[in-house]
Amino acid sequence: MDVDGMAVAMQTARGGRETLAPARLPLPEPGPDQILVRVHRAAVNFTDERACRTGLNHLSGRVEDLPFLPGGEIAGTRVDTGEAVVALSGSGGFAQYAAVAESAAHPVPAGLDAESALSVFVPGLTAGLLLEVAEPDKGDAVVVSGATGAVGTLLLRLLAARGQRHVVAVASPTVSEQRLRALGATAVLRFDDDLEPALRQAAGDAPIGLVLDSMGGPALEAGVAVLGRHGTLVSYGSSSDVPATVTPRALIPGSRTVTGFWLLDHLDRRERVSGILTDLFRDVLAGEIRPDRPQVFGLPEVQTALAATAERGRTGRVLIDPWRDET
Ligand SMILES: NC(=O)c1ccc[n+]([C@@H]2O[C@H](COP(=O)([O-])OP(=O)(O)OC[C@H]3O[C@@H](n4cnc5c(N)ncnc54)[C@H](OP(=O)(O)O)[C@@H]3O)[C@@H](O)[C@H]2O)c1
Repeated sequence: MDVDGMAVAMQTARGGRETLAPARLPLPEPGPDQILVRVHRAAVNFTDERACRTGLNHLSGRVEDLPFLPGGEIAGTRVDTGEAVVALSGSGGFAQYAAVAESAAHPVPAGLDAESALSVFVPGLTAGLLLEVAEPDKGDAVVVSGATGAVGTLLLRLLAARGQRHVVAVASPTVSEQRLRALGATAVLRFDDDLEPALRQAAGDAPIGLVLDSMGGPALEAGVAVLGRHGTLVSYGSSSDVPATVTPRALIPGSRTVTGFWLLDHLDRRERVSGILTDLFRDVLAGEIRPDRPQVFGLPEVQTALAATAERGRTGRVLIDPWRDET
């Protein structure tokens, strides 16, 4: 095929985004259960920089060796069949080609471009499956922290679609309340509010049945404190990077639950995963989900792409186009 190999973004020494640089490598050889994907776009997450710094990659579940090729979510074309797919590559996605497990690839319907598919693939799957961990009564209040993010906005939309009457969004001060209400929030709080009393006030008389927390730290602790009887807090991220303390004994009154969620633990539910993706892709094609415009960077700009993911109040995904700077 390509005798000159392919362009990638590669890390050769542990550290921050400055340790990533463009490089050329031979095309990956797919293993027995793998397929080769020509990558059209790869999603960049702020956790990619954490993976570069610590080696711990949440999208592969591995502590990565050096040299490391980040990039866990891709959209592209199967080289063997020409079919459009999205795939959880775990790593190696910031490249023109990636070898991925065939079971990690999902077809993308005709007419849906790679950017739109990536805007809902992992965030939408996460949101859809998160809402199956605990099912609150329709009259309970549900709290969504990190509500402006890709997962948070889709959680608001799904909660509104299922008729949840009280949805409290905890969000960046820079994103308009109007926008969050349009997505389905019935109350909007800001990260810097004194969260525990603010959550109680926002929920009013409704018991807080479910807290979906991606921030960790004080937001998680406030979420546990306000949970109602039989309520559940699901921790699925730690964007604040601040540790939280939860005392099991404090969960006894009210028979409350604190649990975790990791997408990779749910992907063996193939039919459910396919069903959620089919619905998401249909809704994007129908214009019912309108993803915010992404920021797209070439491989030589990989450090700038990582910096863009750290910008607070950002809406829309950050993507790599690995062909952009080809001459
Ligand atoms: N457990 C799983 O399987 C799973 C799957 C997907 C995602 N996640 C996690 O879910 C969280 C949200 O993911 P996403 O795809 O929605 O991310 P995203 O689109 O990049 O949004 C990030 C969200 O986190 C907030 N945030 C708070 N502190 C931040 C910081 N220091 N740096 C960057 N963002 C910060 C942002 O708030 P502002 O609006 O103020 O910027 C924003 O709401 C992440 O923690 C991610 O790791 C977990």
